Amino acid sequence: MAQTINTFGVLTSGGDAPGMNAAIRAVVRRALYRQQRIIGIKRGYAGLLQEEFIEMTARSVSETIQRGGTILQTARCPEFEEDETVERAVQICHKHGIDGLIVIGGDGSLRGAQALARHGMPVIGIPGTIDLDVPCTEYTIGFDTAVNTAMNAIDKIRDTSTSHERCSVIEVMGRSAGHIAVWCGLANGAEEVLCPEKYDYNEEVIIEHIKEHLANGKQHFIIINAEGIGDSMKMAQRIEAATGMETRATILGYMQRGGNPTCRDRVYASTMGALAVDLLVEGKTNRITVFKNGEIIDYDLDEAMAMDKHFDTYQFEICKSFAI
Ligand code: ADP
Ligand code: F6P
Repeated sequence: MAQTINTFGVLTSGGDAPGMNAAIRAVVRRALYRQQRIIGIKRGYAGLLQEEFIEMTARSVSETIQRGGTILQTARCPEFEEDETVERAVQICHKHGIDGLIVIGGDGSLRGAQALARHGMPVIGIPGTIDLDVPCTEYTIGFDTAVNTAMNAIDKIRDTSTSHERCSVIEVMGRSAGHIAVWCGLANGAEEVLCPEKYDYNEEVIIEHIKEHLANGKQHFIIINAEGIGDSMKMAQRIEAATGMETRATILGYMQRGGNPTCRDRVYASTMGALAVDLLVEGKTNRITVFKNGEIIDYDLDEAMAMDKHFDTYQFEICKSFAI
């Protein structure tokens, strides 16, 4: 019996993340390898609503595996949270003969994927965000590159912080999650890590900690703040006033979202991209690719998104115990 040729769409949504291109490439090449048609949708859900579609060929994704950002570009589209907009998107897909969608993005984008599935669109989600804040998966595309970029930047700040015997408050991204902060706290040997999951806003404790370190002859004091805890610039001013230690704040910002993806991001993104196509070809829908216990597998999207967001309390605790 001849194989059915389906038409699948792929889009990236929300904040871009290094490795998204590797995932797009895998989706495109795996779809073509499995004799399916694949449409690239530009600028996430906003582009879907504007019908910004491009036919993808094997050559469309040449020279992309090593590049940061997303060749399909990305956007935020608040109107997608309304049911009638999602229904309009499904009708647009039908009009263009799109039989299934692959959505690469973070927590918000995956909630959009759930909404599409509720409206009858076959959809597979791939977690793509530097924040690692998608429930159910121990890996999201871009996190590995982002933490390596942040780690290298913090190493550099540490050099000047030590030379000037300063306190450095360094703010990393993560929206309301502290994973980048905790990983950098461990990798960079920070004296304090403040993240939304644990921070009690008691600055007195930090100030006492700094004073103890000064008394013990420490040459610098590094505080890594997850952006979700608040204004790092103002915190630096308060710390300097209270401790007398010269204090500078650095916000690492968007550099964490750019750059060539690490090997891990390329390999896991490629695996997730291929699995997403295989699932659609097998007629599966409303699934998400996840990394769990060392394997890339798939879960029911609704069940996965209803799980608790993990936070590694042990990593957080040992990080603090090393700062003696
Ligand atoms: P990320 O995907 O990186 O977490 P956002 O939270 O900004 O980024 O979400 C990206 C987009 O996903 C939003 O602009 C919107 O189009 C869509 N989205 C977010 N939340 C929902 C929701 N509850 N229902 C439908 N679509 C959503
Ligand atoms: O979700 C990725 C992320 O970089 C978060 O860490 C950050 O809070 C947010 O996106 C910034 O979003 P924007 O690109 O809209 O400034």
